[in-house]
Amino acid sequence: MLEQLLKLCSEVISRENLENTETLTKALEECRRLNLSEDFARRLLGLLLEEYSRLYGPREREDGLGLRAFAARAREMRLSGRPVMRLELGEPDFSAPPSVVEAACKAISEGYSKYGPAIGITELREAIAEKLSERFGVDLKVDNVAITAGGTFATYGSIEALSKPGDEIVIIEPAWPLYSHQAKRLGRKVSKIKTTFEEDWNPVKALQEKVSKLTKIIIINYPNNPTGKVLDPKTLKEILEIAEDVGAWVISDEVYIDFSYNGKSTSILQLSTQKTLMLNSFSKTWGMTGFRVGYVVSEPEIVKKVAAAQNTAITCIPEFIQRAALAALNDEQAAKRNIELIGKRLNILYEELSKSSLIDVKPPQGAMYIFPRIKLENFDSWKFAKALLEEKEVAVAPGACFGDYNNHLRISAVLDEKPLREACKRIREFLEKYG
Ligand SMILES: Cc1ncc(COP(=O)(O)O)c(C=O)c1O
Repeated sequence: MLEQLLKLCSEVISRENLENTETLTKALEECRRLNLSEDFARRLLGLLLEEYSRLYGPREREDGLGLRAFAARAREMRLSGRPVMRLELGEPDFSAPPSVVEAACKAISEGYSKYGPAIGITELREAIAEKLSERFGVDLKVDNVAITAGGTFATYGSIEALSKPGDEIVIIEPAWPLYSHQAKRLGRKVSKIKTTFEEDWNPVKALQEKVSKLTKIIIINYPNNPTGKVLDPKTLKEILEIAEDVGAWVISDEVYIDFSYNGKSTSILQLSTQKTLMLNSFSKTWGMTGFRVGYVVSEPEIVKKVAAAQNTAITCIPEFIQRAALAALNDEQAAKRNIELIGKRLNILYEELSKSSLIDVKPPQGAMYIFPRIKLENFDSWKFAKALLEEKEVAVAPGACFGDYNNHLRISAVLDEKPLREACKRIREFLEKYG
């Protein structure tokens, strides 16, 4: 048996087109012949393919993590007294509203500072289920919701709950870099697909080509970080069909769903609750990045698994934080104000960047970002961003942080109108000089 397995392994990793369906079907048949379960066979192949690309594939750059170091440099420059305009992170400049701060302080003073359930407190889970049911016309119950340590643990816990080592996770780029870091840390096989500016970031064709029987999870994120793309219901349905065809799960990261400005935004909850998981966070809408609170919504069994992962990693989310999140849910005014503010700033960014003949930029649809394409040959987004920071005191995120997008920059709508216009002016002028 071991010998046969080793033979299969060497055959799989020596084949030229490793990911074509024919190879995959053949390998799966072979595994079946060896009496291996389909699930185990898929994972084994996933591990082999991952090992193969580690050994022979192009070396991956750790650009996503590089952004942290870059942001640290921008912070350090500000601390040393240089007036850096910071547009490189996805962190709103507004803080949690007074209602949230008061609720957190009150909860601490009332003693809500003990261990709590890993899945989250019932009051908050119930409130989320109720709000989402009303908003999206669905029927969610408390058992469909787990509270997590921000959207970050919502994704990590979901990948852990829905897959095993060797399973393939499909990520649509440009993407928030942590999806791939998390999946790799969990021993999953990461498969990236590329979407393009020219095709208006539509992922359907590339997904059809890439998704296979190996695929266990497809992660989607609309409104998107970094492009701001909002997906219409028809396209979302097409993605769900692709996933359904191969029996894959869809994780829909909806941390920017409130920041939708073209009227088309759809939650996955409106289309399907079968093999889908939706996640969200309090970080962006209410400026609560440091509170570290978010949630997942899915079938009760899956939600329990996410909670179990959280139990192992961090025990629970502090209860006073969850009580603050409850206050946020009820402060719709604060959310509305923040959403309008970001929308206004995105329009300013669009207006200002459109003034340059060296920049291609699409009208903003959602999220908190603009992801322009720079029309200069051999443009290096890292080199440019570093020089812009040191010489012009403007920090933006290099497009390379989000995949193979070295001719893009991500600019966050996290400053007021005056500095935002000034930052764009400096970017335009620096590009002229750079070109
Ligand atoms: C697409 C996306 N998902 C999830 C997160 C995680 O946010 P948090 O952990 O603060 O909730 C972020 C943060 O920038 C993000 O951009």
